[in-house]
Amino acid sequence: MYILGIETSCDETGVALYHSDKGLIHHSLYSQVAMHNEYGGIVPELASRDHIRKLIPLIDECLHHSQLAKTDIQGIAYTAGPGLIGALLVGAATAKSLAWSLNIPAIGVHHMEGHLLAPMLEEQSPEFPFVALLVSGGHTLLVEVKGIGLYQLLGESLDDAAGEAFDKAAKMLGLAYPGGPLLSKLAVQGQANRFKFPRPMTDRPGLDFSFSGLKTFTMNTLNQTEQTAQDKADVALAFQQATAETLAIKCKRALKQTGLKRLVVAGGVSANTHIRQILTQMVIKESAEIFFPRPEFCTDNGAMIAYAGCQRLLAQQQESLRINARPRWPI
Ligand code: KG4
Ligand code: ZN
Repeated sequence: MYILGIETSCDETGVALYHSDKGLIHHSLYSQVAMHNEYGGIVPELASRDHIRKLIPLIDECLHHSQLAKTDIQGIAYTAGPGLIGALLVGAATAKSLAWSLNIPAIGVHHMEGHLLAPMLEEQSPEFPFVALLVSGGHTLLVEVKGIGLYQLLGESLDDAAGEAFDKAAKMLGLAYPGGPLLSKLAVQGQANRFKFPRPMTDRPGLDFSFSGLKTFTMNTLNQTEQTAQDKADVALAFQQATAETLAIKCKRALKQTGLKRLVVAGGVSANTHIRQILTQMVIKESAEIFFPRPEFCTDNGAMIAYAGCQRLLAQQQESLRINARPRWPI
């Protein structure tokens, strides 16, 4: 069964073709980052308009590259939420119309379920059950995963998501949007241990996170320096280390609490090399295993949506022709 996956929840137009037996056939991605860069953040209306412009050509390109025709598609998966309402509606309306015209099913996928299942696209994929740390620009979640659709929320950020904190700290350091990857590049030049940032909410029990304090700490620390290039790199490194260690402390706790020995880390921030290293070191000490998607599938993409939708369609899940978009949607 060939499944077309469509992702338009934020600032990436992602399309993929996934086959239930053969695996991922092809994926295409168009990033709006350069357009939003000019405004220092995402402009929702511009995001929707750009998805409208790019989505159909991207579907055609993906089919052409795979040497497939529209009539070969047997199901369509699209991101139904959470995300920007206008952006979601472009994907949902396109998916539903195409599915109706081809007389095939379309299924709405939860964006974070897409991230959560992204490591399943890799050769070395995790078996159920596992603990998932989902770290993106909009969410930071710890989830106990027993199978497809069997998700128990263990903890979440009470304020900013980890990616959001990265982007805001990066802005303070004078970096462009989205700042996460740029901050991590800058941190490479940083001297370790010059600044000691807090590890928020690690001194009390529980699996929730809070990252907004790290943002304030970044601002206060920067203001106490001359803000030379070295000062900025040192602050970037201290921020990144604090975030990585906070995530590692909570993941270790989640593994202990659930008794599980498998950790999946996904979402945009999981592309961060330092965070991958710190989490890997922790997991080795715990005699557990760790799984990440390849870096290009850590950030938003159509492949993870096609995979998640394929599993749902194989389980005979159906939905009405009604256009379904849920900007807020708990996992
Ligand atoms: O999952 P994603 O592509 O979109 C959402 O669902 O939000 O995540 C985007 C977030 C942004 O905040 C971006 O700065 C962050 O992931 N990010 C990173 C890195 N790559 C992407 N943060 C830190 N280090 C990175 N290498
Ligand atoms: Zn995402």
